[in-house]
Amino acid sequence: MDKKRANGRYYTRGNPFRLKPFHRWAKDSDLEQQIVLEPFAGAKDIPQLIDLAYLRCQDWMFYDIEPGAKGVVQRDTLADFPKGFNVCITNPPWLARNSATRRGLPFPEATNHDDLYKYALEKCLTHCEWVAAIIPEAFIRSSLFLHRLSDFISLVPQTQNVTTPDNDGRKTSYMFDDTEHPVGLALFAPHETSDVRVWRNNQLLGKLRELRKHLPLPANNRSIVFNEPQGNLGLIAIDNTVSASIRFCPPEELGEYKVRTHCRSITKIGVPWPVDIDMLNGQLATIREKTHDVFLTAFKGLRRDGHYRRRLDWALARAIVDVDHPQLEMNIE
Ligand SMILES: C[S@@+](CC[C@H](N)C(=O)[O-])C[C@H]1O[C@@H](n2cnc3c(N)ncnc32)[C@H](O)[C@@H]1O
Repeated sequence: MDKKRANGRYYTRGNPFRLKPFHRWAKDSDLEQQIVLEPFAGAKDIPQLIDLAYLRCQDWMFYDIEPGAKGVVQRDTLADFPKGFNVCITNPPWLARNSATRRGLPFPEATNHDDLYKYALEKCLTHCEWVAAIIPEAFIRSSLFLHRLSDFISLVPQTQNVTTPDNDGRKTSYMFDDTEHPVGLALFAPHETSDVRVWRNNQLLGKLRELRKHLPLPANNRSIVFNEPQGNLGLIAIDNTVSASIRFCPPEELGEYKVRTHCRSITKIGVPWPVDIDMLNGQLATIREKTHDVFLTAFKGLRRDGHYRRRLDWALARAIVDVDHPQLEMNIE
């Protein structure tokens, strides 16, 4: 497993290339006339998926540090990236720097990025005009390479494509055969893009800048203290497996729950003014509805309602609580 992890090797399954936004990207990049680069080709799954999506290109060129099929050229493409290609379609290796350190795995010294896929993406964008990459869904919250990103598709498994039984008794198809990690398909253009269209499969959720407008202003109010055992506000910060259930609650509801410093799922918050819990939950519900959860981290595994489970991070929770700041209300008056 660690060897697999060292090369960030989870092969693509499922077919994101059937989606509308990818077909549009294929047209814009003139895919039919292109020799396409797959610089992390593994077992050459991507060209098969492109075929199955009824798309064509002129030819492919495949590389991998550890080829998984005939016709893949052995090369460390991170150290020596292939030149002369306009279009690149790939699923690059993923490996978080901290995970590499913890496991004693090598991580390239040439980069400061916190994950291998970001470094791989940087290489693809430096050398290719059009780039389509299957990457972690969390990428859309990183603000990286946004100037060339035209579309970002959150790939949510569909229940009709049957491959893996889940605990519901229903069947779900996941993007990868050995991980349910939330993934997205990022589509880049050669030119500066005005904004990023954000999709959930074939559903357009909105433009990134428009969606961001529904977030409260970031707050730096350190008088709001997280993991405060005597706090006057409780927070259950992750969805359960059924529905969108993140909520603020009276701290008593958490009973004897002992606040743990590193815990990111349940906490008590010290707020130096009386809090209106219904108001906070109303605000949270509006944000979730208007932003389609694009800014909340997705978890492994789907909720029963077919969406990813999400987590509310402390920065956004602080911003929501701070909107209720009494002084702020006075300023508005
Ligand atoms: C996530 S897998 C994707 C495989 C394939 N693109 C697919 O979608 O099925 C990443 C691939 O990157 C390869 N890889 C990791 N580091 C590499 C490097 N430095 N140079 C070339 N390939 C590398 C791994 O061997 C692995 O096959």
